[in-house]
Amino acid sequence: MYSFSDKVFDISIFLSSLRNTRAKRIVLFGAGGYGEGLLDELVRRGISLPIIFADNDRTKQGLSLNGRAIIPPRETDPSTDLVVITTISAGDQVSYQLESLGFQRDVNYFEVMYSLDYLHPFDVVDFYKKYVGGFDGLDILHIGPGGHLGVELLLYALGAKSVYSVEYHSFRLKYPDVSQVKSFYEGLAKTAEERWDVDLFGRGLLLNQDEKLYIDKDKIRLLYPCTITALPFSDKSFDLVLHHAVFEHVPGPEEGYKEIFRVLRPGGTTVGLVDPQDHRTFSSFKEYYPLKFLEYSREEWYEIAKEMNFHNQTTTPEHKNMILSQGFVMNTFEILMQMDITEEIWQEFNPMFRSFDRKELGILRFAFSASRPDDE
Ligand SMILES: C[S@@+](CC[C@H](N)C(=O)[O-])C[C@H]1O[C@@H](n2cnc3c(N)ncnc32)[C@H](O)[C@@H]1O
Repeated sequence: MYSFSDKVFDISIFLSSLRNTRAKRIVLFGAGGYGEGLLDELVRRGISLPIIFADNDRTKQGLSLNGRAIIPPRETDPSTDLVVITTISAGDQVSYQLESLGFQRDVNYFEVMYSLDYLHPFDVVDFYKKYVGGFDGLDILHIGPGGHLGVELLLYALGAKSVYSVEYHSFRLKYPDVSQVKSFYEGLAKTAEERWDVDLFGRGLLLNQDEKLYIDKDKIRLLYPCTITALPFSDKSFDLVLHHAVFEHVPGPEEGYKEIFRVLRPGGTTVGLVDPQDHRTFSSFKEYYPLKFLEYSREEWYEIAKEMNFHNQTTTPEHKNMILSQGFVMNTFEILMQMDITEEIWQEFNPMFRSFDRKELGILRFAFSASRPDDE
């Protein structure tokens, strides 16, 4: 789901600190897909210090990932450990956490940069396009862009009248000075020209100035931090509201759907991809399966999820009800991923989930398009 190109890391600062370190082990903070990728990279480079993981997710503590132990962050030690933050979304919070444990940035803790995949925004825009046709003359709101504003630039270049973006977590997003991720935007611009014959520089969306690269913030407007559950826009401001892999992370998603309905003009449409499955299965843990998180009570899951990059416990039938109960008309509902719930799995679920339709509960990823009715 993440838009980072095949885990290419910039670990130069970390590697140079290894030359004269007295540290006894390397701790990769974040036992997830990116942590795994970095572990492979360090092993490939023949790093001789022992490497383990730390993670705030208490359900992972005590387990192992690729044969490496996972410890709680409080068991790390600034005098013996070199810590590398591998998480994407919560990088800032993890930095504060490490500093409160006595670690110092670029001395005994490091943050790796991932190379963004400049082709990902094309896939996301193609996905939206499939449900709405085109973007010409529309006022568009894009929610939760992740680490870049590639989708926003493409929507504008494809004829949108205005593009707003709201982001809640930092996700290492840079704006409007995007010089640090220049190659991403240059790759995006080159591909946009080749594929769609649109010129992001010529249209003034990207600007080279004083050897830096900027996004024109009068054209692409980012609001950060801002949550989908309290949008700072007047009623009926947009023709189209888009979100891709966002709603499974929102605490109180019903509020989010309500806000989208409010800011849409009558006749306006929202298109989304929702991924209501246990995100712990995105790494190669054998202990979890995609609906494992339905075994917990609401309270138990909230306690677990708040320590990680939050994903809620809202199931597909609940999402569907929340959308429809705002007054939306569902235009399309497409199942993108589904699993069979066997009797054995069904019996493991918290009883509150056994009142749902078993087939609908097994939908792990879906896409939908829904409109606010015209005739109010
Ligand atoms: C899995 S990422 C998806 C990023 C991007 N849309 C993509 O598909 O590559 C989830 C995104 O939702 C954002 N998000 C989570 N909760 C949010 C909220 N309450 N309001 C707005 N954005 C939120 C996160 O910060 C992140 O950018």
